[in-house]
Amino acid sequence: MRIHEAGAMHGDFSALSPAWLGVPDDVNALLPQLWASGVERSDEGVLHIGGLSVDELATEFGTPAYVLDEDDFRARCRAWAEAFPDADVYYASKAFCSKAVLRAAAEEGLMVDVCTAGELAVALAAGVEPNRLGYHGNNKSQSELRRAVELGVGRIVADSYTEIERIGAIAAELGTRPHVMIRVNVGVEAHTHEYIATAHEDQKFGFSLADGDAYEAARRVAASPDLYLAGLHSHIGSQIFDTSAFEVSAARLVRLFAKLQAEIDEPMGDLDLGGGFGMAYTSQDDPQPPSDIAASLGKIVQAECDAAGIGAPRLSIEPGRTLIGPAVFTLYEVGTVKPVMLSQGASRLYVSVDGGMSDNIRPALYDASYSATLASRSSSAAPALARVVGKHCEAGDIVVKDEFLPADVAPGDLLAVPGTGAYCRSMGSNYNHVPRPPVVAVRGGQARVILARETVDDLLRLDVG
Ligand code: LLP
Repeated sequence: MRIHEAGAMHGDFSALSPAWLGVPDDVNALLPQLWASGVERSDEGVLHIGGLSVDELATEFGTPAYVLDEDDFRARCRAWAEAFPDADVYYASKAFCSKAVLRAAAEEGLMVDVCTAGELAVALAAGVEPNRLGYHGNNKSQSELRRAVELGVGRIVADSYTEIERIGAIAAELGTRPHVMIRVNVGVEAHTHEYIATAHEDQKFGFSLADGDAYEAARRVAASPDLYLAGLHSHIGSQIFDTSAFEVSAARLVRLFAKLQAEIDEPMGDLDLGGGFGMAYTSQDDPQPPSDIAASLGKIVQAECDAAGIGAPRLSIEPGRTLIGPAVFTLYEVGTVKPVMLSQGASRLYVSVDGGMSDNIRPALYDASYSATLASRSSSAAPALARVVGKHCEAGDIVVKDEFLPADVAPGDLLAVPGTGAYCRSMGSNYNHVPRPPVVAVRGGQARVILARETVDDLLRLDVG
């Protein structure tokens, strides 16, 4: 294919780029809502985090690397805890799980949500007290349940009748009385900007509210001498911006809560509204501050409780993405730049970096959008419509589908992709035998590795022949 002489700078971008992506006035500008608070571009044009330049970080730790602004993460934890002073905020460790991050969350006053023996082990290694843990999962193994009960985990969220029986049997054998919550399928499935309410969602999690299973499950827990009914739980989806979806779910949970509380002697535990609060990946995302979310959720719970004639139960929430997502960017080195002509006179710059779908599967899996910036320098070149792609042997190996980068982006440049804290490292793979990047935490002007870079030797160690 022949490249148009004017290359990537030429052409009508509007036909190739999504409607939300405008040509930037300044291709070097950083949109504040996409970046951790400690990130800025210096007068020389180099991206810095906590005073450290990305050049220094790349030299010391190599690329690709996830770079965490630890103070930013801690500030987000505090902001959510302060917005919900009378609620428990659980950090959903599935978003990103490491000892340093779970320890930081705990130090900032958060509880921790785990859903496997692996996440539990990291939380314990981080020093999180078992009674400050919530344990989720639709298929916890017998040994996972036993360990949770033995440890005295703060709450186990039951997801099936089978699980209620298993927890009851373990509790009877061990002579303890674990706190069990019921995961309720409230019939609200929320997506980014809209939600649909169905009578019965066709998915694996929870007990259906509409079918009466949630009621029945809660009654069984309450009736068991070996179990304490620690409350009701729902999680309606992820990357949600519209609080009305939470309001519908909260209203339904409160009604069930009130009905149960009227029938059960012992005071029930709390109402957990789950996680799923949206964060900004691109200029099209506009998340609400936690204080606004807290205010609207508090209002709806109070109104429903008033209507039901009960006192408001204690609330809990489980944000993951909104806490860790914006606190991290991924630093890549550009390997090749290839203009590809697409239609009359317009071309797209394919910018290949040294990572890809193994360190961020979200674009391939969910068609997720990200942003990127040239990090090692600023540029006076015109913006070019670019696609940042990885090094994997797959055409769908896309890191940033649509972004304007300076047209002179070149091999050896560093690129930074913000908003990669959640579900990138935690969903990373070794596809094509690419070792996973390290996570470097920056705090107080110091950088330290909190998750080491994998090596090919690590992969070969498991390949026992
Ligand atoms: N609580 C429960 C019970 C959950 O299942 C989840 C996420 C959360 C809390 C935290 O949700 P968050 O606030 O992080 O959205 N891999 C997908 C997201 C899957 C979320 C699964 N559950 C992604 O990359 O978008």
